[in-house]
Amino acid sequence: MSADALLEVASISAGYRRVVILRGINFTLAPGERLAVIGANGAGKTTLLRAIMGQIPLSAGQIRLAGEGLDSASIAARARAGLGYCPEGRQLFPMMSVAENLELGAAGAGAAARMRRREAVLEIFPRLQPLLGRAAGLLSGGEQQMVAIGRALMGEPRILLLDEPSTGLAPRIVHELYAALARLSAVAILVVEQNARAALRFADRAIVLADGAIVAAAPAAELRDDPLVVSAYVGAGRLAPA
Ligand SMILES: Nc1ncnc2c1ncn2[C@@H]1O[C@H](COP(=O)(O)OP(=O)(O)O)[C@@H](O)[C@H]1O
Ligand SMILES: [Mg+2]
Repeated sequence: MSADALLEVASISAGYRRVVILRGINFTLAPGERLAVIGANGAGKTTLLRAIMGQIPLSAGQIRLAGEGLDSASIAARARAGLGYCPEGRQLFPMMSVAENLELGAAGAGAAARMRRREAVLEIFPRLQPLLGRAAGLLSGGEQQMVAIGRALMGEPRILLLDEPSTGLAPRIVHELYAALARLSAVAILVVEQNARAALRFADRAIVLADGAIVAAAPAAELRDDPLVVSAYVGAGRLAPA
């Protein structure tokens, strides 16, 4: 694999108990790169992120971060090593304030580091500034997604793993969210989406996942300009103009 890969996913298979979901997945992510993994509901996108985070074991293959195999690394160790995970459905604590939800992403960091990281998050998502004291559950869907991403950023990851950030959001908010993500120049981003249009506009490169296997991999612009490829695997409706 390429020498400058930050993340290497090498021929991995994984699933649940005896059910194999992912079969022979291979790709790399370079520092600062934006990779989209698109695929229909049930294709295995969330399972892929869980395997990278160590929430489920691999049945074959290996995942390396900056050249180091992650086989025996716990979820916490992977987070410390630079993987930031923003799970499907946001998973915020609705009764806790926005500030408290953000703090949860900075476990182990000193006060000065927390302050600095929070400022960085607010620079990316200025909309959160006046909402810091508000219960997260009272925010709009788009604002909640910003908190969920902000929480992952509070760990100062080298790689941000995003699971369906656009789900349930109005097109204008999706646009705002991806515009903010585009300003994150220092972090590599792996985003999984059913929303192929938004993800392909954002990403440098894209992988199409179907039934747990990669069926296409190309520069995002190529897939964007080839609606037949995408509609075949993701569903034509997903490419309809917003
Ligand atoms: N906890 C689980 N136990 C067993 N099967 C699961 C579990 N979670 C997901 N699956 C199955 O794995 C497949 C891929 O699911 P998932 O990774 O969630 O897809 P996607 O995120 O692309 O919608 C689906 O067939 C789903 O039913
Ligand atoms: Mg999913």
